[in-house]
Amino acid sequence: MGKVSIAVLASGRGSNFKSILSEIHAGRCNAIVNVLITNNPDAPAIEIATQNNVPVEILEPKNFSSREDFDDKIKETLDKYDVELVVLAGYMLILKGKKLLDSYQIINIHPALLPSFPGVDAQTQAFDHGAKISGVTVHFVDAGLDSGPIIYQEAIDISNCKTAEETAEKILKIEHLAYAKVIDLFSKGKYVLEGRRVKFLKNE
Ligand code: GRF
Repeated sequence: MGKVSIAVLASGRGSNFKSILSEIHAGRCNAIVNVLITNNPDAPAIEIATQNNVPVEILEPKNFSSREDFDDKIKETLDKYDVELVVLAGYMLILKGKKLLDSYQIINIHPALLPSFPGVDAQTQAFDHGAKISGVTVHFVDAGLDSGPIIYQEAIDISNCKTAEETAEKILKIEHLAYAKVIDLFSKGKYVLEGRRVKFLKNE
């Protein structure tokens, strides 16, 4: 089965990006990373890309006259690298460009059980609410904030976590394998987006 060509979009640390690469190398994620796109020239994710021979494109909104032009440029870059699936991994900008959203399937990972705790600092939000259970959500991206159709969720007990940081660490551990698994399932055609719902298929 052919590998799915992906672009990873990341703004920071890149631990999900790194884990996707290592799951690919271990043969557990049927994908190839064609490009890393970042809006942050100082993102540690760039170093991870360089070490793994993944091309890097730095695209900063400040260099474009509008957010629409910026999103169009992202689309052009994805076209140039022959990307089939766009993977947001700690990408801190909301993609709104119609051309971009209409042209690509884009997925995101969020460190909470959506629709609870969308937006930034989801782990702190969960901790501050005294949530006993939180987890990870992988979803398709639409023009909203963490609002697209949900593909996969995994819950964990955070009731014993003493700080927001400990909560975030516990969630991050499950993020890493979950994201690679969802990408692998995509490459094997195991689910499709039908309107606002994700349908899982029973093909081989
Ligand atoms: C992760 O917690 C992810 O769920 C969220 O942003 C964080 C990115 O972390 N969307 P990293 O850059 O992958 O380490």
